[in-house]
Amino acid sequence: MTNHIPTRVLTVDPSAPDPQIIAEAAAVIRAGGLVAFPTETVYGLGANALDERAVARIFHAKGRPATDPIIAHIADLQQLDALAYDVPSVAYALAQRFWPGPLTLVVLRRPVVPANLSAGRATVAVRMPAHPVALALIAAADAPIAAPSANRFSRPSPTMAAHVLDDLAGRIDLVLDGGPTPIGVESSVVDLTADPPVLLRPGGVTVAALLELLPGLTFAPRYLTVEDEAAPAPGMLLRHYAPDAALIVVAGRRAAALARMRSEALAAIAAGRRVGVLAFDEDAPALTDLSVQLVMLGSATDPEQVAQRLFAALREIERTGVDLILVRDPGQEGLRLTIRDRLIRAAEGRVIIAEP
Ligand code: TXA
Ligand code: MG
Repeated sequence: MTNHIPTRVLTVDPSAPDPQIIAEAAAVIRAGGLVAFPTETVYGLGANALDERAVARIFHAKGRPATDPIIAHIADLQQLDALAYDVPSVAYALAQRFWPGPLTLVVLRRPVVPANLSAGRATVAVRMPAHPVALALIAAADAPIAAPSANRFSRPSPTMAAHVLDDLAGRIDLVLDGGPTPIGVESSVVDLTADPPVLLRPGGVTVAALLELLPGLTFAPRYLTVEDEAAPAPGMLLRHYAPDAALIVVAGRRAAALARMRSEALAAIAAGRRVGVLAFDEDAPALTDLSVQLVMLGSATDPEQVAQRLFAALREIERTGVDLILVRDPGQEGLRLTIRDRLIRAAEGRVIIAEP
């Protein structure tokens, strides 16, 4: 049973937030409350990162398992040293290059960090977001802000205030509505306490950019090699972004993948199922004659655009009430790897490899 909290919404200018509104939101944070706010990646569900009870409220509001640690967001580099010790020099080089921005660094946790933020681990994840609202809120709160994505557990991440309200209205104190988030997928998470460093989650910073400063970086999620109709790899949290309908990623050469999407759609329709397709703009002509719900992802040649629309598109196609959603594999180059990661998680690992 959850107590119902009246959730207020305040509109903020994303590029020049009104200091009065930020002060109001910061007061909620300092009082131990929950404030959802825009970052350049997705909306975060914020609380004072140094307040164990406030952090506990985040887990409760999201329905998030206590075993999943939360990122501390900072607005200046001194806050990194306040939260972490034995920070390797490469962390400062990465910060110099990518902060503020969509990169999260996992480093050793000082005792000042509440254990629940880190799910009992010896480490803490830290990032400096590149969004005027987020930076102003952290500065005004005068504390690092703990913030997971502001969605209910296992729902797509929110890229608009309306998504936050769909999932969390009545469970949080305040939403700062700063419009759609520009990047649309979450930060890249790098564990610097591992040797060599490990990319725990591909995100807004590409692997190629990270490799320039972390030549030894390793990344090996098992789901990226699933075979035709394979079961999800054990131990992977593949349900993480799953919308309500079953989603299948169709990989392989474009023509073969489109042909397979058509045959899968026709078979499902014949079996009485309602089918949706998350389609790249240039794929639409090959699909429009089918009786399917089409939701457009943008151009396959513009991964920034696809990333920005991805989670909104997942929520939109889910709302149409379809039983099956098909999407073509976006590829793995640059930001496409991140889009692919989110799609395969939404698909719970279901990937069909179309043969030519
Ligand atoms: O872009 C983002 O990162 C957004 C915005 C709001 O900043 N936040 C976000 O938070 O995506 P969340 O909680 O949805 O995802 C954080 C990821 C999780 O996969 C979590 O397991 C990992 O970071 N993480 C957090 N702390 C960690 C730690 N100490 N060690 C390893 N992984 C950690
Ligand atoms: Mg999340």
